[in-house]
Amino acid sequence: MGKISGVVVEVTKLTDRISSLTIAATDGVPLPSWQPGAHVEFDVTDGARAYSLVSFDPVPKLPTSYQIAVQREDKGQGGSVAMHSLTVGDAISFGPPKNDFPVNSDAPAVFVAGGIGVTPLISMAAAVRAAGQEFAFHYSGRSAGAMAYPATLFEQWGDAFHLHCDDSETALDLNALVASVGDAHLYVCGPRGLLDAVRGKAEVANIPTERVHFELFEAASVQVDDAAFEVQINDGSVFTIPPGKSIIDVLEENDVDVMYDCQRGDCGICQCDVLEGTPDHRDVVLSQAERDAGDVIQICVSRAKSARLVLDI
Ligand code: FES
Repeated sequence: MGKISGVVVEVTKLTDRISSLTIAATDGVPLPSWQPGAHVEFDVTDGARAYSLVSFDPVPKLPTSYQIAVQREDKGQGGSVAMHSLTVGDAISFGPPKNDFPVNSDAPAVFVAGGIGVTPLISMAAAVRAAGQEFAFHYSGRSAGAMAYPATLFEQWGDAFHLHCDDSETALDLNALVASVGDAHLYVCGPRGLLDAVRGKAEVANIPTERVHFELFEAASVQVDDAAFEVQINDGSVFTIPPGKSIIDVLEENDVDVMYDCQRGDCGICQCDVLEGTPDHRDVVLSQAERDAGDVIQICVSRAKSARLVLDI
């Protein structure tokens, strides 16, 4: 399916930095249906930005609009600032919905959201609730005033909703949270620190990995001390990966075909075997044991601690 021409039909300021945007098709026809957890890539000036679709009710078969919530990142690459500059009546084009974070609505669930990572989990929890399954929704952030939708979520879900604010005594207790999972599925979305912490606790508590689902909600960041390194592939070609570019960026520029999807380090599709060298893991896919073993790498985000990596590509 090609690009869809859309128009902004509503903008609501949720917090100082978060706005909700409602977008419909320019010609008023229904939009493609979507599954809870899905996102849409919107075209902004310097590329595409993905935002999860928000629905507090089961997703209609023929939606007439999409709702997203955008947090303005003033130090980001400009996409969120461009989205925040949109007003009612502005045109925006976007791709069809895509779902990398499906929910099993036939099983009980515990949802853990960090900050703006709440967005995909809302429709997922709504689906679990509509299917009559038990669920708990934990939403963690710095303060209630800086978080999207807390009052609406409490109104919708009552006691199933738990707000955890770092500036109060309600801060998220991961040990208690993991202990409460039982036979439920655990869904986590938010920044890397939260994902790593929840996954670490889930591993210690022996929650099977098939019941732990996660999506990273932050762009891969450039670290100040990132240095260039070399990557050698199976035909002997050697490429230099400079700071600010991923291994995938450089391989694609040189017409080397690689498979990838999320480009955030959370889907595992781009994983390659490391034949020589030491990876600097920046993903959220690998367990600590896999990171320590160092024999695979997610080439969308991870870099090298050694001068060269020899990869099975
Ligand atoms: S593309 Fe998803 S982990 Fe690399």
